[in-house]
Amino acid sequence: MADGLIYFEDGELIAEIGNARVFKMNDKLFLEKGPGHTLWALEDELPDYIQQLESWPQGECLEIGLGLGVASEYLLSFPKVKSLTTVEIDKDVIDVQKIVNPIKDKRHLILNANGLYYAYETKRMFDFIFLDFYDVIDEETLPVIADMVTACHRVLKSDGKMIGWLDKYTSGDHAAIFMSLFE
Ligand SMILES: C[S@@+](CC[C@H](N)C(=O)[O-])C[C@H]1O[C@@H](n2cnc3c(N)ncnc32)[C@H](O)[C@@H]1O
Repeated sequence: MADGLIYFEDGELIAEIGNARVFKMNDKLFLEKGPGHTLWALEDELPDYIQQLESWPQGECLEIGLGLGVASEYLLSFPKVKSLTTVEIDKDVIDVQKIVNPIKDKRHLILNANGLYYAYETKRMFDFIFLDFYDVIDEETLPVIADMVTACHRVLKSDGKMIGWLDKYTSGDHAAIFMSLFE
């Protein structure tokens, strides 16, 4: 993500709701949350989503983490996707995303909840689950990601597939542990 940091100087603030701010630079959107410049989502991560999601999305899909909705839009571009439920913990993110990147697709449902609790409470089952609710993969977030994987396994159909977004800046050791969570 380090390459994106230049937007702090040159980016234009285009929407702000509560703790969520969206900047635009070179026609690309950047989502910040919180009091500091904590970058949570970049519009130009689409090529990474295309590469990592391969041709897996199909049927009833669950996504944890809305951000700018770039991955949601991409998931909905798959004709075999019957529905997409996106669970987002932060109401400010949901409201700001609607302004900067509205997604008008009847198959899409956005829920304001913690993905972990949703996965333990819902009675629904999913064919494909995409996890992207962290901004970094390290020793602090790996246990949290592992908990989410466990919770989401409950709602994954036996022939379903779950993957998590792998940040390309993740260290080798952390990436190996991360990948093992989905085996
Ligand atoms: C890296 S961003 C997602 C980027 C998104 N895939 C996109 O296309 O822009 C992570 C999002 O997950 C949300 N989030 C963090 N923890 C969560 C949780 N436990 N449940 C649901 N959403 C969560 C954050 O508020 C943030 O909006």
